[in-house]
Amino acid sequence: MQRPWRGKLTLPMADDRILSAVPVEDDATVELSLRPRRLREYIGQQKVKANLDISIAAARKRHEPLDHVLLFGPPGLGKTTLANIIANEMDAAVRSTSGPALEKAGDLVATLTNLEKGDTLFIDEIHRLPAPVEEVLYSAMEDFYIDVVIGQGPAARTLKMELPHFTLIGATTRAGLLSAPLRARFGIVHRLDFYDVESLEIIVRRSSQILNIEVTADGSHEIARRSRGTPRIANRLLRRVRDFAEVKREGKIDVGIAREALEMLEVDEFGLDEIDRKLLTTIIERFSGGPVGVGALSSSIAEDRGTIEDLYEPYLIQIGFLQRTPRGRVASKLAYDHLGYAMGATRKQADLFS
Ligand code: ADE
Repeated sequence: MQRPWRGKLTLPMADDRILSAVPVEDDATVELSLRPRRLREYIGQQKVKANLDISIAAARKRHEPLDHVLLFGPPGLGKTTLANIIANEMDAAVRSTSGPALEKAGDLVATLTNLEKGDTLFIDEIHRLPAPVEEVLYSAMEDFYIDVVIGQGPAARTLKMELPHFTLIGATTRAGLLSAPLRARFGIVHRLDFYDVESLEIIVRRSSQILNIEVTADGSHEIARRSRGTPRIANRLLRRVRDFAEVKREGKIDVGIAREALEMLEVDEFGLDEIDRKLLTTIIERFSGGPVGVGALSSSIAEDRGTIEDLYEPYLIQIGFLQRTPRGRVASKLAYDHLGYAMGATRKQADLFS
């Protein structure tokens, strides 16, 4: 008897920050309607797109499934979207699951044996696969078979089960946590980077058309530049600014309304929120600007270490506010300036004379 499909898509722990890069509240449903379905509709990530375009065209020409794909990069940049686009472009069915959802080797065996030739299997958070599950993947990915153990004790036998040729798409925020044997089995590896403001502006305009929201060019620019390089955040800010515009004005979003709304939401000009600022001020005030280990920082601001590493730091590093050194995290001059501290000071300039 075939076992039922047991995989399920689990999303990373959601938090309630307006600038969270992981999905919050109604994001998941709205994202579905905003998600591009084809590569040509996908904005930004030009190099990744161009390379995928070639890989897909070549596989189609050979009438073969695409090689296994690994997508990595910070949350909210479109790894899941891209996985679905790849499947669409290959005219392939897609099965979605995640590392933590595949608890036992049997879960993955059931998933793999339910696949059909050419199907795409998407595993989100693939760095969180338990080791015994990961080991099943090795032969499945490389030679399209799995060893199934039947029976127990001395009578146990191993049966080699052939699998249909499929494409695995793995997504991870932490490529560094992937084991070398797993990583080596992906023929196509792409890293997604934070988006530039121009690309985010196009995404905001595209989303506003789909959601029927009126936004001026400078309104979408303002939202884009405060979205920490992340489409998921841009789309969320667009909806929050729309709420503000509908309640306070006639509904149309221009630069003035965008600014007013984002200030009310405490999203500053660099797209930093309260927690980013707390992280930086803690380094400056309590640790004299650093270096400070992420463990000490995590207890100081009462945030989980993994959350700091995955969600907050990548963007702060990208915009040059934070440096990751072998001895710990260091706040940069840009961070001191932005937060109103003189370089080397542990109190704000504004507070020194009060
Ligand atoms: N929505 C979210 N990410 C997108 C992208 N990269 N292109 C188009 N729309 C998007």
